[in-house]
Amino acid sequence: MRPKITFPCMISTGLTFAVAFLVLIPAVRSADSSAGIAIQGSKTEAAKTSPAAPTRKPDVVFVPTPQKVVDKMLEMAEVKSGDVVYDLGCGDGRIVVTAAKKFGVKAVGFDIDPARVEEALANVRTNKVEHLVTIKQADIFTLDLREASVVTLYLLPDLNVKLIPQLEKLKPGSRIVSHDFSMRGAKPVEVLSMSIGDDTEAGSNYEMDRNHTVYKWVVPFQREP
Ligand SMILES: C[S@@+](CC[C@H](N)C(=O)[O-])C[C@H]1O[C@@H](n2cnc3c(N)ncnc32)[C@H](O)[C@@H]1O
Repeated sequence: MRPKITFPCMISTGLTFAVAFLVLIPAVRSADSSAGIAIQGSKTEAAKTSPAAPTRKPDVVFVPTPQKVVDKMLEMAEVKSGDVVYDLGCGDGRIVVTAAKKFGVKAVGFDIDPARVEEALANVRTNKVEHLVTIKQADIFTLDLREASVVTLYLLPDLNVKLIPQLEKLKPGSRIVSHDFSMRGAKPVEVLSMSIGDDTEAGSNYEMDRNHTVYKWVVPFQREP
């Protein structure tokens, strides 16, 4: 299948901005919490946390995907009833919370940073989606992803590539969508470029209008040199 490409010249400008956000700008919020691990399920379970020290430094700092881009990622992934959405490096949990609220599907967010796990859990509780969303403290490179039918990413180009062996094991028909970064060696079926206009989110001092790109793959994805 030929990829649908939108505004390729804007993509490279957006990519430069995107890498700068993730690599050069320090974490928006400091990772200073000694929060909990693997929380989910019933409302009671969702309220529990057990102490978990950071296992190692995150491979990329936390920069949230703007809500408009989250909505577009889930739309491009064609999330439907029965899907299970995994967000690898879930940050504050906005993608998994949106998947549960908008589509009523199960979703699991993984993050290595205990502070992000705590934030994501608070987000799950605020939005009352404990029955659908699980948040786990884990290193994404150790995960078996085969339960997922949709995987969302906002990492870095080399981290996406490092995930290929795990992503290739997803069930046929599973969709992978990545904010801003391609996956060298895997040909996307769709690439979409979008601007979020002046719709900056309350409380954010790092977001500015820039071009965002969303890449989509369907498993089994086509390999390219
Ligand atoms: C750029 S943020 C994306 C957050 C969220 N997915 C979103 O799009 O709004 C990347 C997240 O990945 C997490 N992370 C980095 N390395 C990780 C790893 N090896 N395992 C799990 N999470 C990781 C960071 O702590 C951070 O919260």
